[in-house]
Amino acid sequence: MDYSQLMKIFATRQLPDAMFTTLENEGVTVNQWEEKRELTKEEFIANAKDAEGLFIMGGFKITAEIIEVLPSLKVISLMSVGYDNVDIKAATMRGISVGHTPDVLSKATADTAFLLMLATSRKAFYHHKRIGNGDWKFFEPMVNVGIDIHNKTLGIFGLGNIGFEMARLCKAAYSMDIIYHNRSNNEKAEKELGAKKVSFDELLEQSDIISVHANLTPETKEVFNTSAFAKMKPNAIFVNAGRGGIHNETDLLTALENETIWGAGLDVTNPEPMNKNNPLLDMPNVSVLPHIGSAVKETREAMLDLATKNIVAGLKGDKLPACVNPDVYNK
Ligand code: 8YV
Repeated sequence: MDYSQLMKIFATRQLPDAMFTTLENEGVTVNQWEEKRELTKEEFIANAKDAEGLFIMGGFKITAEIIEVLPSLKVISLMSVGYDNVDIKAATMRGISVGHTPDVLSKATADTAFLLMLATSRKAFYHHKRIGNGDWKFFEPMVNVGIDIHNKTLGIFGLGNIGFEMARLCKAAYSMDIIYHNRSNNEKAEKELGAKKVSFDELLEQSDIISVHANLTPETKEVFNTSAFAKMKPNAIFVNAGRGGIHNETDLLTALENETIWGAGLDVTNPEPMNKNNPLLDMPNVSVLPHIGSAVKETREAMLDLATKNIVAGLKGDKLPACVNPDVYNK
C-alpha cells in the first residue's frame, strides 16, 4: 500500500477494530493514542501535526492555538454530542468542519439522568455503601428514608433531544408536570408532554427536580450557583447529566450542607475526574457517576459509527452528516 496517498487522521483513543477497518477501506490511515492516560498538549500536537482529520474521543480541548498549528486539518470529528471542548469559531474561520454525535445517545443519556434522580430520591448509592460498611442494623421507621417523586414537577434546563427523553420518562413513570427553560420553544415537548416554557427563576422556584441537559457555553457556565440554589425548594433534587461546568461545585456542596436543597445526582463534575476525597461522595443524598451518560454498548457503537461517517465525509470534502458549524460551508 502506498501510505503517502492515504488521508491521515489522529485519534485520541484506540478505535475498535471494525472502525479501523472501515477507515482503512475509505483510504484513511489512523495514528491513534494508545496509552491509558490523557495526552498533553505537546503530545497531541506532535501526533496530529500532519493530520487532515482529528477523531476526538474524550474531552481533549481543541483550542485556537492547536487549530493554528495543524496546517493540513480539514475536519474535527467528536465522539460526543457536546462540543464545548472545541473552539468552534477558530475552526470555522479556518474552514474546518466539526462533526458530533447527536440523537444516537439521547435515550441512554436520559436514562442516566433518570437513574440519578431516582437513586438520589431513595439514597440508593449511600445505602449500598452502608451495607459494605457493616451498617445494616435494625429497622427504624423514619431513619434513612428518601422522598417521593410521584406527581412532582420536573424542570428541564436545556430542552433538546436528551432533555425531551428525560421529560418523557418522568411523565410516563411518575406523571410529572414538565416545565423547561430554554432559548427557543420546544413545540414537540409542549404538544406531546404538555411542557411549559418558564423563566430561569420560575424553573428554580417551581421545580421539585431540576435536570440539566444544556450545552456548556459562556451563558450557562456556573448558572447553578449559590444564588440559584437559594431560589430552589428545600425538597428539590438537582440532577446534572450535561456538563460539570454548569454548576458551581462548592456552592452545590454548601447548598446541600445547609439543606437549601435536598439532594443531587451528578453524572458530570468539575473537574473530571472528581477527586476521591470530594465531600459530596460522603453525603447520603448525593449520587455521583463517572460521566457514563452515553455508556451503553449499542449507543457507543452508534456514536463511533456516526463519528466515523463524519470524519470520512470531512476528509472527502463532503458535508458532514452531523455538523456543528454548517456556516463553514458558506465560506
Ligand atoms: C461522551 C458526552 O461519552 O456526548 C457527550 O457530550 O458527554 C459523552 O457522551 C464524552 O464526551 C466522551 O467523548
